[in-house]
Amino acid sequence: MKLYRFGKPVETGAVLEKPLKFLQNEEIATFKLKQTKDSLILRYHLHKDDVVLGLGEQMGGVNKRGRKYITYNTDIPEHTPDKLSLYGSHPFIIIKGRYPEGLFIDYPGEIIFDIGFTTKDILEITITSTDIDVYHWQDVYWQNIITGYIKLTGGVYIPPKWAFGYQQCRWSYPDANSVTEIASRFRQLGIPCDAIYLDIDYMQDYKVFTINEERFPDFDKFVKKLADDGFHLIPIIDPGVKIEDGYPVYEEGKKNKYFCTDAKGDDFEAAVWPGLTHLPDFSKEAVRTWWGNLYEEFIKLGIEGFWNDMNEPAIFYTNYQKAEVYQKLQEAAADNKIEEIDLIGLQWQIRNFHNSREDYQSIFQHPDNSNSLCHDKIHNLYGAQMALAFSDHVQKHYPDKRFLIFSRSSYSGSQRYAGIWYGDNKSWWQHLEMNIKMLINCNLAGYLYSGADIGGFGDNCQAELLLRWLQLGVFSPLFRNHSAIHTRRQELWEYDKETLNISRNIIRLRYSLLPWLYSQFLEFASMNTPLIQPLFWQYRDDRCQQIEDEFIYGSSLLIAPVYQPNATGRNVYLPGKKWLLWQARSWEERKMQVIPAGDHYLECPLDRQLIFIAENKLIALQEPEDYVDQIKPDTLFITGLVTESASIKVLADQGKYPAFAGIAVLEINVERNGIDFKITIKTVNRELLQWQNLVFELYNGQGNLMVKHRKLI
Ligand code: GLC
Repeated sequence: MKLYRFGKPVETGAVLEKPLKFLQNEEIATFKLKQTKDSLILRYHLHKDDVVLGLGEQMGGVNKRGRKYITYNTDIPEHTPDKLSLYGSHPFIIIKGRYPEGLFIDYPGEIIFDIGFTTKDILEITITSTDIDVYHWQDVYWQNIITGYIKLTGGVYIPPKWAFGYQQCRWSYPDANSVTEIASRFRQLGIPCDAIYLDIDYMQDYKVFTINEERFPDFDKFVKKLADDGFHLIPIIDPGVKIEDGYPVYEEGKKNKYFCTDAKGDDFEAAVWPGLTHLPDFSKEAVRTWWGNLYEEFIKLGIEGFWNDMNEPAIFYTNYQKAEVYQKLQEAAADNKIEEIDLIGLQWQIRNFHNSREDYQSIFQHPDNSNSLCHDKIHNLYGAQMALAFSDHVQKHYPDKRFLIFSRSSYSGSQRYAGIWYGDNKSWWQHLEMNIKMLINCNLAGYLYSGADIGGFGDNCQAELLLRWLQLGVFSPLFRNHSAIHTRRQELWEYDKETLNISRNIIRLRYSLLPWLYSQFLEFASMNTPLIQPLFWQYRDDRCQQIEDEFIYGSSLLIAPVYQPNATGRNVYLPGKKWLLWQARSWEERKMQVIPAGDHYLECPLDRQLIFIAENKLIALQEPEDYVDQIKPDTLFITGLVTESASIKVLADQGKYPAFAGIAVLEINVERNGIDFKITIKTVNRELLQWQNLVFELYNGQGNLMVKHRKLI
């Protein structure tokens, strides 16, 4: 990897340890460079077989060719195919061809990636700055470029183990009673769940770091009561600080000059949920320290998880824009020319108030050790630095504890201290399909702990869509059902009895796989490697390159979600040799079948999902719990198709303390021994493993099952 430096880049914090040597203002290997007064343009001639990967959270497929993308974090509730930017910016691409190359352009402003859109075989990257760092990789294996990038930007965030449980959200559960009722429904109905969310209505007038005491009286007792029942309560945190005299967060921020300003140096005003607000300037360390401390109010009550929202930052409008409209209307009224008001024009004008580029260009930030900067140039850092404020705070004050934190807006490097969710999707089948690609793409950018709103946020979700989405969710590290205000309720019991029963089975399946899914997360995170991978990560045959609606989870599983309405099956392509197919209906019903590689149409009615275990690989399951930290089952089931030999490593750390602290390992090796299997078991820190018994359910190439029991001593 080589670092190419142009001009004087701003410190983004994406790379913690920069290479000492760099090339200044030089051409980047195979890229043609054009410099203008205020931009740099990189051009690359794509070979017809080159595949372009990367860009993290973006629209489009896994292969990014044929489309344009812009890195400029945007609050964008309509994820229609014409959209060029979403909430996060991860300006890292890989050209996967005969000679793989990778580029990470460390610039947190606008970059336009035209990947064969304007001219079919030309990749043109327009960076709207002349002060940037570009990291360039060439490697025989494109996978090394990805792990190289994740490592360079600091590795992977690991949330607490309970954050792998099922989570329930809604904008909003309006008061403590509704939350308590939701919690007891989960327990009554025997549906596992680990977290319930508080959306904006828990606050007093949407003032960040406040609680509406009327609707949430005795908040501390409320948090404790839920915790006793195994629920984590997760409040939303928005950055806009309401302008209101006497409100302590506002007063402190104002006094200490913690807010972003306008060109004149006055605190910038932007309207979000609370009305007019100021935006904290997270580029300053003092502001991050202050903001990090504000979470203390909640942490002291036992809250261990937060979701940071609206941090692109979203702006609904500014007073300046409002004044323009007001003036137009007033002039018309004064001249008595109401009929001449161009309503359509006005409508457009008002619609464009939302997240206007002009607003971002008129905000100023004042980073440490630097002159004031126009926010537009560091726009994509805002959400990442907000999450950093939290992460630095808890690392300093709670070094022995793991918190859940995820953010809507992100930038390269923030994957080392926070997860993300993919923002305001819709209850559309197309968005279920998009979720599959997004999981792959975000994993390729190091966001292993990420996921979409299950069931879709906007619009009304129907039962079938919810169930298919939950099935995909079993393999989404962040597994959260969330829906918007005014939409149909999306809790599992809001539909019919059959839907409730199927969804219970799906979520119990997730909990039964949890020790294994979590172990794989730890292992892949520690290797700086995507956990959810495109098929072609591990399998070399050409067909795999074309498959974007299946994925590999970790080392052993291939998942083929059903994402079309009224489908009772789907086409699946299986690489490699043989697979053990589990048409899973419930965790208990482990009816498996051996099927060969190749193309198949497979039945998959609504109450089943397709899980494939690779030949000579094993997976582990246990009886599901109501929540992750509940009394732990003592039997672990190991299953797989063993034609020669197979091994499995289950990592089990304490789940709450620093990852890998007190880690215990269970390592099993199974070898075919004629018609029998020889089993070898090794452990590290045996006393920390919860399991006493192992049950082996092993299949041979013909699909015959042999069950074996072992005591784990
Ligand atoms: C934004 C968030 C969404 C949240 C809503 C209200 O749209 O993306 O998740 O529910 O704001 O806070």
